[in-house]
Amino acid sequence: MRVMVTGSAGFIGGHVADALRAAGHDVVGLDVRHRTDARDTGDVRHGTDAGSAEDVRHRADAGDAHDRWHTADVRDATALDELLPGVDMVVHQAAKVGLGVNVSDLPDYTSVNAHGTAVLLAAMARHTIAHLILASSMVIYGEGRYTCTAHGPTRPAPRSVQDLENGRFDPACPRCGEPLTHAVIEEDARPDPRNAYASTKLAQEHLAANWARETGGRVAALRYHNVYGPRMPRDTPYAGVAAIFRSALEAGRAPAVFEDGRQLRDFVHVRDVARANLAALSAPVRPGELRAWNIASGTPHTVGDLAEALASERGGPSPRVTGEYRLGDVRHIVASPGRAAAELGFRAEIGFEAGMKEFARS
Ligand code: UD1
Repeated sequence: MRVMVTGSAGFIGGHVADALRAAGHDVVGLDVRHRTDARDTGDVRHGTDAGSAEDVRHRADAGDAHDRWHTADVRDATALDELLPGVDMVVHQAAKVGLGVNVSDLPDYTSVNAHGTAVLLAAMARHTIAHLILASSMVIYGEGRYTCTAHGPTRPAPRSVQDLENGRFDPACPRCGEPLTHAVIEEDARPDPRNAYASTKLAQEHLAANWARETGGRVAALRYHNVYGPRMPRDTPYAGVAAIFRSALEAGRAPAVFEDGRQLRDFVHVRDVARANLAALSAPVRPGELRAWNIASGTPHTVGDLAEALASERGGPSPRVTGEYRLGDVRHIVASPGRAAAELGFRAEIGFEAGMKEFARS
């Protein structure tokens, strides 16, 4: 099958392109950066921006010369019109990622993620390409699912500044104010994006669903949890926490663990995520529909555990719990990997210990 991968020079897109090629597919890579410039650099606009290429530590990839890698922005309709003829399916990974630094990031998130997806979908319609795999994210859920012993299941509102200032990090029941217990979130949960990135990832899902309804196309939306692994960007405020901790340790600094370090995330290895994309090539989606799957390991860990694991693998320094907080953060996000297992046959294979051991030194 001929598959276009947008963001093919980025962290996740690069692994997805590698996995597709290894499975015998004909990969058309589209990225605003040249693939070899973009390996493991500080540029986190996955395949969407021409950033600097300092600290390039990419591995030599002899196979690249035989593939089709194209340097173009996903918002460039003319480039898409040149590249899409003959493509059977698009795997859309190009995005501006991360929590962002402040509201000055809003236009960029919207332009790259929402407008970029719109340009891509319109081009796919022009070329009657009916199948899309969309890199979505668990961030669209906002705060995870919780249970109150007195009032049952609930989805709490954003945490108040006052609570965060006073170190009350766990959300409280909106009815009685008692602390809530986290529960597992499933794909049919109501979206509740809490930051610009999350809003634009949800916009991508909505736009893709609109496109599917209008064109009879099919969308497999893969809601990635916290992806980590080799070639993750370094030294950038836009990268996920695993990359930030590893960069700190490499510089001889203690990882700064926010809140009390007991917030839960599901860290899923990038090679497992690439396998999930392969599985999604034959996802059971009806024409005209978008269907979503959590792509998670199913075994959550605290951010404190993550810091300890990386620090211990690198021989210190020990993590420092700072009590800081970020308003766009959620407390716990723990998902069920059940639908992906049942419908895609996808189960993560790389466990936390082995994955972090490799990542700490990759
Ligand atoms: C992350 C990604 C998001 C991606 C999602 C799912 C970022 C910023 N976020 O969301 O793009 O869609 O996974 O794959 O890339 N923390 C610290 N110390 C730090 C930085 C963060 O303790 O120096 C804490 C945060 O307060 C938070 C947790 O680590 O509690 C996770 O942070 P982060 O990885 O940035 O964001 P997620 O919301 O998990």
